Amino acid sequence: MAAVAVFLCVLSCFLPELAFAKTRHYTFNIRYQNVTKLGHTVKVLTVNHQLPGPPLVAREGDRVLIKVINHVAENVTIHWHGVRQLQTGWADGPAYVTQCPIQTGQSYTYNFTLNGQRGTLLWHAHISWLRATIYGPIIILPRRNESYPFEKPYKQVPIIFGEWFNVNPESVIQQALQTGGGPNVSDAYTINGLPGPLYNSSSKDTFKLKVKAGKTYLLRLINAALNDELFFSIANHSLTVVDVDASYIKPFQTNVVLLSPGQTSNVLLKTNPNFPINSTFLMAARPYFAGQGTFDNSTTVGILHYGPGHSPLPTSITTLIPNLPAINDTNFVANFSRKLRSLATAKFPVNVPQTVDKQFFFTVGLGTAPCPKNATCQGPNGTKFAASVNNISFALPSTAIMEAYFSRRANGVYRTDFPVKPVFPFNYTGTPPNNTVVSNRTSLVVLPFNASVEVVLQGTSILGAESHPLHLHGFNFYIVGEGFGNFDPNKDPANFNLVDPVERNTAGVPAAGWIAFRFFADNPGEI
Ligand SMILES: *[C@@H]1O[C@H](CO)[C@@H](O)[C@H](O)[C@H]1NC(C)=O
Ligand SMILES: *[C@@H]1O[C@H](CO)[C@@H](O)[C@H](O)[C@H]1NC(C)=O
Ligand SMILES: *[C@@H]1O[C@H](CO)[C@@H](O)[C@H](O)[C@H]1NC(C)=O
Ligand SMILES: *[C@@H]1O[C@H](CO)[C@@H](O)[C@H](O)[C@H]1NC(C)=O
Ligand SMILES: *[C@@H]1O[C@H](CO)[C@@H](O)[C@H](O)[C@H]1NC(C)=O
Ligand SMILES: *[C@@H]1O[C@H](CO)[C@@H](O)[C@H](O)[C@H]1NC(C)=O
Ligand SMILES: *[C@@H]1O[C@H](CO)[C@@H](O)[C@H](O)[C@H]1NC(C)=O
Ligand SMILES: *[C@@H]1O[C@H](CO)[C@@H](O)[C@H](O)[C@H]1NC(C)=O
Ligand SMILES: *[C@@H]1O[C@H](CO)[C@@H](O)[C@H](O)[C@H]1NC(C)=O
Ligand SMILES: *[C@@H]1O[C@H](CO)[C@@H](O)[C@H](O)[C@H]1NC(C)=O
Ligand SMILES: *[C@@H]1O[C@H](CO)[C@@H](O)[C@H](O)[C@H]1NC(C)=O
Ligand SMILES: *[C@@H]1O[C@H](CO)[C@@H](O)[C@H](O)[C@H]1NC(C)=O
Repeated sequence: MAAVAVFLCVLSCFLPELAFAKTRHYTFNIRYQNVTKLGHTVKVLTVNHQLPGPPLVAREGDRVLIKVINHVAENVTIHWHGVRQLQTGWADGPAYVTQCPIQTGQSYTYNFTLNGQRGTLLWHAHISWLRATIYGPIIILPRRNESYPFEKPYKQVPIIFGEWFNVNPESVIQQALQTGGGPNVSDAYTINGLPGPLYNSSSKDTFKLKVKAGKTYLLRLINAALNDELFFSIANHSLTVVDVDASYIKPFQTNVVLLSPGQTSNVLLKTNPNFPINSTFLMAARPYFAGQGTFDNSTTVGILHYGPGHSPLPTSITTLIPNLPAINDTNFVANFSRKLRSLATAKFPVNVPQTVDKQFFFTVGLGTAPCPKNATCQGPNGTKFAASVNNISFALPSTAIMEAYFSRRANGVYRTDFPVKPVFPFNYTGTPPNNTVVSNRTSLVVLPFNASVEVVLQGTSILGAESHPLHLHGFNFYIVGEGFGNFDPNKDPANFNLVDPVERNTAGVPAAGWIAFRFFADNPGEI
């Protein structure tokens, strides 16, 4: 062993980069497990018998190797949501896009470095709805020789929001795909896997955060819910938001944070130096929902307890729930997103394209797909709901797209004819077109390396306006503008923020509104 140690030192002691960068090894065993919540026992998929799964912890610059072993009948992949995957696109995880799924009895080792990012992200399964129970935090600490651009926290706590179904989540999505109606809604939201006391038979499943008075805690907030945007707040405490999606922002104080599914945010919680031992406050999360249709409108609650000692549930819980905006409070959401600005310092500069090589205008929303013969469908007028971008609903191929690309067998797998703008323009947020049927194919856009790209995502109101979270794999982007109604290419660009726009990997497109974002296409092979 001594010889090995000396050898490592020869390598690492003279190269500063290696002196800090490590390789971190993880093994993720995918297994079935009976989990009971709300009095219902459900056989779900878990990683290493944990729900939420284990945190992936590394420092900026580290390489991580995660061996995923599939012990179940389902095909599995894992997506490292928000990790840039510079030149390691095949380690990104979406099934049939960057890789074939890991089949029963097989394993696959994801191998990538965490470059230019520090903060909180999440990992989750990326096939069907397996992410309902296969998810966990990614914690990227600053390099050993670097610090946070804010007060050093006393402690760090991941707070990950999820959704719980009293039935197998796979049966929920299978039924929705078959009938074409909206999927049945979840039975509870959870904080670190625990629904909390507002649900039946659930008081003992309450997340408790024990704190000391007068300290600063870094809460690593993660929205791992399947589909819902969530408000979060802690009674009698304000939060300082210091980053989103593992990018530092100009800090600001707020009582309520909003996270779209897939979004993450680090916030500082300063505990009050004057609150006595045994002070107890509730934290709560519940959805923001601005569409039509049904959704889970319940509230998950956890406890902030000034310790030491154990923290009994307070009586009269409902009176202690922190004030949250109304479920449809779109104004709050718009104001909140306006507050998000990149830190934009010499150390953490903004690299937003000032000019644009490739411009895209994508409509985002719901249309219809025909009901198969003999079937009965529950979408609009007996059709199926189908989500689309520029009226194309993505058809998942049976060969992974990257594999087809690299082995030059794209023919029959995908086409490169994705429309750069709507083929038939209409009033996107006004009277819907007569024909709402989407087309259904595997089409994509190919970008030249390093092109500067601008994308406007325009929400539609064809079958009711909804807010749509969208995530870009393998890239961060800068949100340069957003608004309600139809994007106006003559007026709106004049108001774009090209100085300190927020950098993210997931954005909520406002209901009947639009966002514009820019990025450099600097990650070859990623899709
Ligand atoms: C920390 O180390 C990295 C990698 O060697 C280097 O790029 C960076 O400049 C260093 N930061 C400071 C504050 O010295
Ligand atoms: C879950 O419970 C069922 C019914 O009791 C049992 O048959 C099954 O073996 C259990 N599965 C696991 C993974 O524990
Ligand atoms: C798993 O993936 C393989 C390869 O794409 C496919 O042939 C098989 O049908 C899938 N199995 C299940 C259970 O989905
Ligand atoms: C991980 O990737 C690096 C860079 O390509 C390579 O050198 C290394 O051998 C890989 N490790 C494993 C275990 O595949
Ligand atoms: C805090 O509460 C615990 C449990 O109810 C109790 O045993 C303890 O005495 C309390 N401590 C103080 C300082 O009030
Ligand atoms: C949630 O929705 C149900 C069904 O629409 C409704 O009866 C209930 O009052 C709502 N609950 C809250 C807290 O809004
Ligand atoms: C929000 O919901 C409330 C109660 O259903 C309704 O009265 C109000 O008009 C809605 N507000 C918006 C902006 O849709
Ligand atoms: C697209 O086509 C596939 C294969 O025929 C089918 O399973 C799927 O339901 C279709 N989706 C839409 C939105 O038409
Ligand atoms: C439709 O239903 C008829 C009568 O039950 C059956 O003969 C036929 O095979 C079905 N067709 C399809 C495509 O399922
Ligand atoms: C459903 O049918 C009604 C009556 O024919 C029509 O007014 C409406 O536009 C249709 N909706 C969709 C989504 O096709
Ligand atoms: C589009 O529809 C909206 C909402 O009905 C309306 O306010 C707007 O005037 C329409 N725009 C055009 C160009 O017709
Ligand atoms: C759509 O349908 C309406 C009512 O039937 C008709 O007046 C209009 O001309 C149609 N528009 C198009 C573009 O076909």
